[in-house]
Amino acid sequence: MEHGIVIWFTGIPASGKSTLAAAVQRELEAMGLPVENLDADEVRSNLSPNLGYSEEARDENTKRLAWFANKLAGYGANVVIAAVSSRRAYRDRARSWCEKFVEVYVDTPLEVCQQRDPKGLYARAARGEVSDIAGMHQPYEPPDAPEVHVRTAESSVEECVEAVMGALRELGYLPAAEAVTEAME
Ligand SMILES: Nc1ncnc2c1ncn2[C@@H]1O[C@H](COP(=O)(O)OP(=O)(O)OP(=O)(O)O)[C@@H](O)[C@H]1O
Ligand SMILES: [Mg+2]
Repeated sequence: MEHGIVIWFTGIPASGKSTLAAAVQRELEAMGLPVENLDADEVRSNLSPNLGYSEEARDENTKRLAWFANKLAGYGANVVIAAVSSRRAYRDRARSWCEKFVEVYVDTPLEVCQQRDPKGLYARAARGEVSDIAGMHQPYEPPDAPEVHVRTAESSVEECVEAVMGALRELGYLPAAEAVTEAME
């Protein structure tokens, strides 16, 4: 069976990973393709609620995500993953395990993320309740050569999604338009 694509969104908290992963999932599903969404938060709360956010825990969490994504991809499922994945080594390990790996760098300035703050995480940090945010208190290592680099402070969600879809097309990972139409009929 042909391997599915593993699309890994990385970036600091509130950069837009979950938003873009879900939107790309919808695009692929609209083409009739099977997609599993492994949002790091959801996987954590279901599989490892007590894991925590130490360096070792982050390492372990991204390892589990990559392992699981590769298993699913082996059955032909496409997988979108939204995970801060702050270390280059975490993503490189995932890349080495997955046949069709697409790294999407969700690049958003910290100040913009602090303003967005959909989960109130930065507000908690401002109150001194959290002190382990990647890109703020802990290092975030941006990708050197991601397949896709989106700047969400300058591009709309739609434009970012189109950048990802364009990269998938260029990599030859999407079925030809005729095949998609046939599958939908
Ligand atoms: N171009 C864009 N792409 C993605 N999100 C955007 C964009 N412009 C604005 N936003 C907004 O930024 C916020 C990003 O929140 P989201 O939950 O997707 O971030 P996240 O990276 O998954 O954060 P976390 O690491 O905490 O899970 C959303 O409220 C979204 O609507
Ligand atoms: Mg998220």
